[in-house]
Amino acid sequence: SPGVPRVCGMPLKYVSLVTLAVQNAALSIVMHYSRVSTPPALSYSPATAVLLNELLKGSISFIIALSRVREVVETPWHRKSLWGIVCSLPYPWTAPFWSLCGDIFSPDCWKLSIPAILYVVQNSLQFVAISNLPVASFQVTYQMKILTTAAFSVALLRKKLSSTKWLSLFFLAIGVGIVQIQTSSSSHTGPKHTTVGSAHDYHVHVMNPLKGFGAVTAACFTSGLAGVYFEMVLKNSRADLWVRNVQLSLFSLVPALLPVLYNSKPSNSQGFFVDLFRNFGGWAWATVAIQVFGGLVTAIVIKYSDNIMKGFATSLSIILSFLASVALFDFSITPSFVIGASTVLSATWIYNQPPGKEPTVLKGQSGK
Ligand code: C5P
Repeated sequence: SPGVPRVCGMPLKYVSLVTLAVQNAALSIVMHYSRVSTPPALSYSPATAVLLNELLKGSISFIIALSRVREVVETPWHRKSLWGIVCSLPYPWTAPFWSLCGDIFSPDCWKLSIPAILYVVQNSLQFVAISNLPVASFQVTYQMKILTTAAFSVALLRKKLSSTKWLSLFFLAIGVGIVQIQTSSSSHTGPKHTTVGSAHDYHVHVMNPLKGFGAVTAACFTSGLAGVYFEMVLKNSRADLWVRNVQLSLFSLVPALLPVLYNSKPSNSQGFFVDLFRNFGGWAWATVAIQVFGGLVTAIVIKYSDNIMKGFATSLSIILSFLASVALFDFSITPSFVIGASTVLSATWIYNQPPGKEPTVLKGQSGK
C-alpha cells in the first residue's frame, strides 16, 4: 500500500528484518573477538562501551527526530502557551529544536525509564556472557529469548497466539539448537573455527561457562521484557519512534554512567577520559558501532513488525553466519545443519501463515 515506508522499492519491514539478521551475526563474532583476543588486564571496559552505545544512539536518534519535526503551527501569540512562545523564537533552527525538546520531555516520557534500565542491564550482561562462552553456545542459549518474548507479548500486549504459533516457536528454538550443536562440535575440529582469530587467542582469556550461561539466561528475560515494553509504549501512543528512542537513551544514561563512575579508581587514575578509553582499540569501536546500528534497526523492526518477528530474524542470522562460514572458512554442510535449518525455515513459514491457512494437523485457536 502507498502508506508503507519503502527502501529502494522494498517494504521497510522486510529490509529491516534482513538487516537485523546480518547485524546480529556480525555483532556476536566481533564482540566475542574484541573480548577474548586480549588478556583481561589489557581489555577495554564494557561499561564504557555500554555508555558510548547509548550516547551515540541517542545523538543519532535526536538528529533524525530533528529532521522530521514539522513546521511549528502558526498560532496567534495570545493563544500560545509559554512553551509555544519559546518554540517560536526567531532563529530558523530554534523552533524545531525547542519543539522537539517539548516532545522529548513530554509528561509520559518516564514510561521509557523501564525499558531503558532493562536494556542497560541486558547490554552489560551480554558482555559477561560473550566473554565466558564460545560464540556458538552464546548464540544458541540466547535464542531462549524467542520464548520469553512470546510469553511477555501474551502477558503485556494481550497478543493471542494460536497453538500452531506456539508450536512453531518451540520448533524454531529446537531448530536453532540443532544448528548450533553441530556448529559448536565442528568448531572444535582444528582449523574449522567459527570465529575470527587464531587458536592462540583463546588461551589468553579464561572463560567461565557457568557465569556465561547465568548471564545469558538473565539477558533473555530482560530482552523479552524490555522489547515488549518498548513495543507497548510505542504502539499505544502517537509519539514519533525517534523521539521515543531519544527518551530511551536519555533514561539509559544514568544506569550506564553508574558503573563507569564506580570503576574509576582515583589511586592510579590518569584522568577520567584516559581511564574511560583505556585499551579501547579498533575492535572495541567496531563492537560499539555494530551495537549502535543494531539498536537503531531493532527500533525500526519493533515499530514496523513486532518483537516475535524480530526473534525469527535473529534465528535466520544463525543460518546466515553458518553459510558465511561455508563460503569463507571452508565449512562443510552436514546433515544436522540441513535438519536444523529446515526446522527453522519451516517454523518461520508456519508462524507466518494467516489464520485459517495453518496446517490442519497443528490448527489451534485464531492467530495473533
Ligand atoms: O537482543 P535484543 O534484540 O533484545 O537486543 C535489543 C538491542 O537493541 C539492545 O542492545 C538494546 O539496547 C537495543 N535497542 C535500542 N533501541 C530500541 C530497542 C532496542 O537501542 N528502541
